[in-house]
Amino acid sequence: MGSKITGFGAYLPPEALTNSQLEGLVDTNDEWIVQRTGIRERRIAQGEGTAALALRAARCALADAGREPESLDLIITATVTPDCFTPSTACMVQAGLGARRAAAFDISAACSGFVYALDLADSFIQTGKFRTILILGAETLSRIVDYTDRSTCILFGDGAGAAVVEASEEDGVLGTYLWADGAGGGVLRAQALPQDENPLGSRAAWTITDRAVSMAGGEVLRFSLSEAPRAIDAVLSRAGLTIGDIDWIVPHQANRRIISGIIRRYHLPEQKVYVNIDRFGNTSSATIPICLAEMRERGLLQTGQRVLLVGFGGGLTAAAAIIRI
Ligand code: ACO
Repeated sequence: MGSKITGFGAYLPPEALTNSQLEGLVDTNDEWIVQRTGIRERRIAQGEGTAALALRAARCALADAGREPESLDLIITATVTPDCFTPSTACMVQAGLGARRAAAFDISAACSGFVYALDLADSFIQTGKFRTILILGAETLSRIVDYTDRSTCILFGDGAGAAVVEASEEDGVLGTYLWADGAGGGVLRAQALPQDENPLGSRAAWTITDRAVSMAGGEVLRFSLSEAPRAIDAVLSRAGLTIGDIDWIVPHQANRRIISGIIRRYHLPEQKVYVNIDRFGNTSSATIPICLAEMRERGLLQTGQRVLLVGFGGGLTAAAAIIRI
């Protein structure tokens, strides 16, 4: 039994935070941000948490697949910004949808999270355990960004993307590759709970900056430029394909320079690589499914096309998958 993605969906909160608005918050400017990252604006959720964004994306994906919530066997949400430790974001989505038959859980693999979730869904379907699975990448990174740190606050945005993966006679997942290097995790961190030496000590002093994203940008850049191609090569080899067999590449939208590095490395035509980082910034686990949903809406995805997804980021993690539309 194979699996196939039958529906895509996304939700971006309406409020945009532009580069010129950031100029009012930190010592930066539009030209620097565009040149170094390719980002012009990003969306910021106002009064909506990660589960609320995920639920809206989920409804779009179910509508695209022509499925009712009751048909879902499982919901997996990839997120590093859940609203709660428990209940999980996936359980909140399950309740919001009324997907009463579905099991639900979250995974944490940062910017690789959606591809990890796709691999899990494909594996569950191959075992025969489940037939219809909703996978999501959803983030409200604005809640863990320090808007006094110019090296990180320019990068991140909020958003959610979703896909319905179903058992199918046709093989719609041609190969996957998952990787992690926990030893390198310190270059990109966001603390979940205070690290007090005395557990009865100073928790009251816990502030946003204690749990804000901290990043050694140059090292993350170098890691991404080496691990994204490694993941691409590995998944192509597992699928028995070459880069010439691929119709679209959908890279994690971390930085336009990383995407340009991938384009140069494989001598790709620009129009084969989907990019929307200029409008949405880096939404971690949500970037890839948001791209896919946009591509579907714009009529760019044609039946039979092969699409290579590649994620890389916190953990450190990297992951790639080749899907057939
Ligand atoms: N505006 C203006 N100047 C800035 C800004 C800013 N927003 N941020 C940093 N600078 C300054 C620095 O202070 C430094 O000044 P100095 O030379 O006087 O010390 C100068 O610009 C150069 O700083 P670098 O950090 O060397 O700049 P770099 O070219 O590496 O770009 C960036 C920084 C954009 C963060 C880059 O390292 C990067 O993109 N790294 C990858 C990180 C990434 O994509 N993270 C996303 C999350 S992880 C993931 O999704 C894979």
